Amino acid sequence: VSAPNKKAKAKASTQALPNTFAVRLLAWQEVHGRHHLPWQINADPYRVWLSEIMLQQTQVVSVLDYFARFTQKFPTLQELAEAPLSDVLGLWSGLGYYTRARNLHKAAQMVQSEFGGQFPPSSAELVKLPGIGPSTAAAIASICFHERVSILDGNAKRLLARHLGFSDDLSQSVAHKRLQTLANAQVPKLAQDMPRYTQALMDLGAMLCTQRKPKCEACPVSTDCQARLTDRVEALPIKTRKVKRSQLRMHFLLRYITAVTDDDLQLKHSIAGIDAVYLEQRPAKGIWAELLCPPCFDTEEALRSSLTPQEQQRLKTMHSFQHVLTHKDLIIQAHWLRDEKVSISSIDSTNSPNRPNSTPPNEGQWYAINQSKELGLPVPVRKLLFP
Ligand code: ADE
Repeated sequence: VSAPNKKAKAKASTQALPNTFAVRLLAWQEVHGRHHLPWQINADPYRVWLSEIMLQQTQVVSVLDYFARFTQKFPTLQELAEAPLSDVLGLWSGLGYYTRARNLHKAAQMVQSEFGGQFPPSSAELVKLPGIGPSTAAAIASICFHERVSILDGNAKRLLARHLGFSDDLSQSVAHKRLQTLANAQVPKLAQDMPRYTQALMDLGAMLCTQRKPKCEACPVSTDCQARLTDRVEALPIKTRKVKRSQLRMHFLLRYITAVTDDDLQLKHSIAGIDAVYLEQRPAKGIWAELLCPPCFDTEEALRSSLTPQEQQRLKTMHSFQHVLTHKDLIIQAHWLRDEKVSISSIDSTNSPNRPNSTPPNEGQWYAINQSKELGLPVPVRKLLFP
């Protein structure tokens, strides 16, 4: 079948149907949407679920490498469920929002133990698994099981609110519920069209119906877009409650050992050429829960007063830098301290990344720099250790 023939056929079949919102989205997705993302190939529930969790707060381009590495190391749900949590956190390192990785591991174990290794085939059951909210449940259920339910992530919310002229305040949960009901009423008639429809909402929201400067002239549903007709495209959707950003200062004490002289070390924010570093597990609650991190202090004074006078003299304090979290800006200052009492040969370079399971939390230890690469480390710590 030649390409023009195929196009004519698609046109004929869509023309036979009323030109609903869903019909126009499906036709648009077929021509302009994304079709070759790795999780669209062999789109089994495990791969779709994994991609949806990775994509929750992260853009497609940043997810691609992680998805490839993850599915290579854990090709099946069973392998993921049976892996130590620290391996999962290690592979996740750099993606941020580690709660996602913890929930991912927990959900994999639940699917193994409670559902015999098969994801439950409905959004109502999926939403009960850790880390799966209503929109992620709808994405998995519609893509993998053809359930007629609408996703309502940020992109879909924006697109639907604009098209419907929905002006209720979406920071209120009643408004969110109402939009979900309206969204569910827009899905295609045929269940088999659900995977493409879900992808169409994501693609149209990401590619055309963007927050700023939306490309309405290219949009397949602009003719009856209520926001457009009433000149409120950039005003919708409405969300009044804004989270206030706060700032937090953190001082890291980076004890390191190295075989080279200080003159040969490259000093900037980070030090290139170190052999080992002292890390401890963070508390179970709060920022970077349970990840490995250098000892951390609120103030430079507190950090200094934990040191001997000799150590204070050797301390190398770097310029602070900013690291942005969802609701917080961290101002981080690294203080490097060469340790002369510990030798590299005394460090067990086999201390595996499984360690957090086997020793009590908060107890620090030395890590050879090479193996610490595989540990679950907060992004800024990773940047400091591996410049
Ligand atoms: N964001 C969330 N899910 C996605 C998907 N399946 N494709 C592209 N972007 C997404």
